[in-house]
This record gives sequence, C-alpha cells and structure tokens, in this order.
Amino acid sequence: SDCFALIVFAFKSTLMAARSVRLVDNNSSCSGRVEIFYDGHWGTVCDDSWDLIDAKVVCRQLGCGSAVSAPHYAHFGQGNGPILLDDVRCSGREASLLECPHNGLGSHNCGHYEDAGVICEVPRPVRLVDSDSSCSGRVEVFHDGQWGTVCDDSWDITDAHVVCHQLGCGSAVSAPLYAHHGQGDGPIWLDDVHCTGSETALLQCPHSGLGIHNCGHHEDAGVICEVPRPVRLVDNNSSCSGRVEVYYGGQWGTVCDDYWDITDAQVVCHQLGCGSAASAPGYAHFGEGNGQIWLDNVHCSGHEASLLECSHNGFGSHNCAHLEDAGVVCEVPRPVRLVDSNSSCSGRVEVYHDGQWGTVCDDFWDITDAHVVCHQLGCGSAVSAPHYAHHGQGDGPIWLDDVHCTGSETTALLQCPHNGLGNHDCVHLEDAGVICEGKSFISL
Ligand SMILES: *[C@@H]1O[C@H](CO)[C@@H](O)[C@H](O)[C@H]1NC(C)=O
Ligand SMILES: *[C@@H]1O[C@H](CO)[C@@H](O)[C@H](O)[C@H]1NC(C)=O
Ligand SMILES: *[C@@H]1O[C@H](CO)[C@@H](O)[C@H](O)[C@H]1NC(C)=O
Ligand SMILES: *[C@@H]1O[C@H](CO)[C@@H](O)[C@H](O)[C@H]1NC(C)=O
Ligand SMILES: *[C@@H]1O[C@H](CO)[C@@H](O)[C@H](O)[C@H]1NC(C)=O
Repeated sequence: SDCFALIVFAFKSTLMAARSVRLVDNNSSCSGRVEIFYDGHWGTVCDDSWDLIDAKVVCRQLGCGSAVSAPHYAHFGQGNGPILLDDVRCSGREASLLECPHNGLGSHNCGHYEDAGVICEVPRPVRLVDSDSSCSGRVEVFHDGQWGTVCDDSWDITDAHVVCHQLGCGSAVSAPLYAHHGQGDGPIWLDDVHCTGSETALLQCPHSGLGIHNCGHHEDAGVICEVPRPVRLVDNNSSCSGRVEVYYGGQWGTVCDDYWDITDAQVVCHQLGCGSAASAPGYAHFGEGNGQIWLDNVHCSGHEASLLECSHNGFGSHNCAHLEDAGVVCEVPRPVRLVDSNSSCSGRVEVYHDGQWGTVCDDFWDITDAHVVCHQLGCGSAVSAPHYAHHGQGDGPIWLDDVHCTGSETTALLQCPHNGLGNHDCVHLEDAGVICEGKSFISL
C-alpha cells in the first residue's frame, strides 16, 4: 500500500504539473503562447534566455512529444495577465516548467511583447484513427515519441466526452470497447482511465501511469463523437444540395426515398441554413451512396430542428437499396457568399436567412471568423478579414453581429456564436469582408 500511495502521489504531482501550464492562441493544445497558473491567475513567460530546452520541458509536461521551436517576441500574440516567469533556464530534465531555475515568480523586467511561445512535435497529444471520421475511431495518445492505444478497462462515456471535447468534435455518442475500430500495434499507453468529465485533455484524467497496463490490443478503447452536424448533402459540389447523408454510430449513411417529400427536405434545408427546399429528388438522383442506409419511412412535420427528430423506422431498419437514395435541393447553393470583388474567394460576406441575403457587422470580426468562411466556400485559409466595408456597403438586412468563431466550426459561419440573426447595433459602413488564399477569379 506504500507503493500504491507513492503511485497516487506521483500521479497527483503529474496531474498538477500538467494543469499548471498551457499553450494558447494557436488552435492547438501543443503550440502557442506559454501560460502558467499561479495564485489564481494565468500569466505569461518572458522570452529572455527562452530556448529549445525550456520548450522541451513544456512539451514533455503536456504530453506533446519533443519541442520543434521556442519562438520569442509574442509570436502567438501578447498575453494580458501577469508576467510570471523571466530568465527561465531549464536543464531539460525537469518534469515541469516551474521546476526550472528562474528569477522568482512575478520578478521580471519584461513587457508582453516579449511573451515566450512553444511549438511541439504533434498538434494534439490525442487522435482517433481507423474510421472515416476524424471525430471517431480508436483512441491513440502520444508519449515518448510514439502513438499508443488506450485499454478499455473502465473506459466509459465520460472518458469519451473528454476526448471528443479535446478534439473539437462535440459530445461523445459512445465509448466502444474491444477494439471496435480495429487493434492498434504500438505501445498501450493508458489503462484504467477515470475521467471526471471536467478535464480538458485525456492525459489529465486519472490513469494507472503511462505504459502501465494489464491489457492486449483486443481491448483497445474507441470513441464516437457527434459531428458538427449529423446531416450533410453530398455529390453535387454544394453544401445545400445533394444526396442526403446522416451521421450515426460513427458512419455516414443514406436515407431511403420511401415517403421522402418536400416537407422532409424543408427540415434538412433549414437545419443546414440553406433557406427553403426547392425539391426532394428520389431514386439516387445524385448518385448512389455506399455503406449503411440509416433512415427509411421518414415523416417530418416540418417543424423539427433536425432530420433526426423526424419519425422514421429506426436507424438501419429499412427495406431499400441505394438506388432509392433520397436527395435535397435547397433554395441557395450555400448559405454564405462573398460579393463585390473579382474573385468568388474574397469580398463582402453575406449570409442567407429568411429568404434574403444580408451582411455581417465587423464588430469582433477577425481572421478566425474569416477562416470559417473560406473553408466553408472551399477557398482554403483566410488571408485577411477586412473591416469597414472594404468591399463596399451592402443594402439588405444586417444579419450577424459580434461573431466569435472558435475556429472549430469547420462547416459553417452560422454555427459560430453571434448576437442572434438580425440582432445588431451596426450600419453598413461596418460590413465585414474576407480575403481567402484561394483564387478562382470570375471573368468579367
Ligand atoms: C499557429 O502557428 C503557426 C506558426 O506560427 C502559424 O503558421 C499558424 O497560422 C498558427 N495557426 C493558428 C490557427 O493560429
Ligand atoms: C448538381 O445537380 C444538378 C441538378 O440535378 C445538376 O444539373 C448539376 O449538374 C449537378 N452539379 C454537380 C457539380 O454535380
Ligand atoms: C466539384 O468540386 C471538386 C473539388 O472542389 C472539383 O475538383 C470538381 O471539378 C467539381 N466538379 C464539378 C462537376 O463541378
Ligand atoms: C477587378 O479587377 C480590375 C482589373 O484588375 C480592377 O480594375 C477592378 O477595380 C476590380 N474590381 C473589383 C470590384 O475589385
Ligand atoms: C482549429 O482546429 C480545428 C480542429 O482541429 C480545425 O478544424 C480548424 O480548422 C482550426 N482552425 C484554424 C483557423 O486553423
């Protein structure tokens, strides 16, 4: 039991150490501005004498592999809390940044323009593999330069939630056991994982110690997360028309056209922010899908917020073949567009709502918001997010204000937090714009 107490102590120290440092403002838990938690506040680290050895300690502490670089001069933007560390001189063997020699907490001669950063080997110390979605699969964690699996002993939905949230995949739908997504072949890094649900990363959850387990790969743990949206329209090069596919049990599957009609299509179009439905073609009009046929005999009343709320036979229960796959054509090809420039990949942002195109106010409009728009339009990443009606003033309604995308809304601007459609305190002088890296010039 002394041994047990020691393990618990070692574990608790590791846990506290892991929680006392974070990397922020690079959309990755393994790169960004270094922040440490002390006396109730997150504060930054000054870049005086900051180097790759210091970065190495941070990366190891966070389970992110080795360090790639140790950027200076607020490379990831300036923090705004206290500057807690200066003249950090790690030897490289410390288990935590706070164990490295430094000037003393809060003692510094720096400004936030000197905030230290770190870029580690892997973008996130957890991944889901061997499924057709980055939001489901066999769980793998990164440690000691290698990806390894997680044993399913006591693996449950709470553990799966932590993984889904960590990956930006929403909540967990299930936590499959017994190598549901196939067996891994590397080390088995975790066993007896007991998350409480409040952890932001799987490696913060209590477990039996990295590499300590009594398992085989036939017990590899899996996760299935809900995706940003469990319904999509495919094979018509438009997010607002195509074959209907529904996400369930970790797989996209089709919908049978028995009883499929314009009311059902209406629910899909609304759910996707694509206006009303124009038609509800059956007979695999957009080609036959493959994989599961998830829904049959769908009967929507038209008021449902999601197709999955409409009555149907039950997932996977059908008497259909893929030649009966249902389709939808909505009013607009995409619920967002860029206008008044020479390129379909830059311009004033307009979103479609209530039968009308309207603009977006530039309050809090930034590059992260612009990224979501560019990705949604298939235009790559954003280059800039111009304000003040850079691409001219619109004249319809102003549909969005105070947009705060986190960057994880990969599919639609309308998924980003905002004031509520039509709720704003702006004039068209403040219309937001986007310039994406993609070109696709329209010939005039
Ligand atoms: C993360 O940092 C890298 C390196 O500085 C940069 O190229 C990239 O744009 C950043 N990404 C985000 C989402 O901030
Ligand atoms: C999309 O569907 C329409 C209507 O069936 C069809 O005319 C068009 O060719 C399709 N476009 C693509 C890119 O599949
Ligand atoms: C559909 O989109 C893909 C990728 O965006 C493109 O390569 C392809 O040519 C498009 N197909 C049609 C028929 O427009
Ligand atoms: C389109 O490009 C032409 C030639 O480069 C330029 O003169 C014109 O101002 C551009 N128009 C817009 C709306 O950007
Ligand atoms: C941020 O990370 C999410 C999840 O990995 C990704 O889908 C999104 O594209 C990223 N955003 C940016 C701006 O890189």
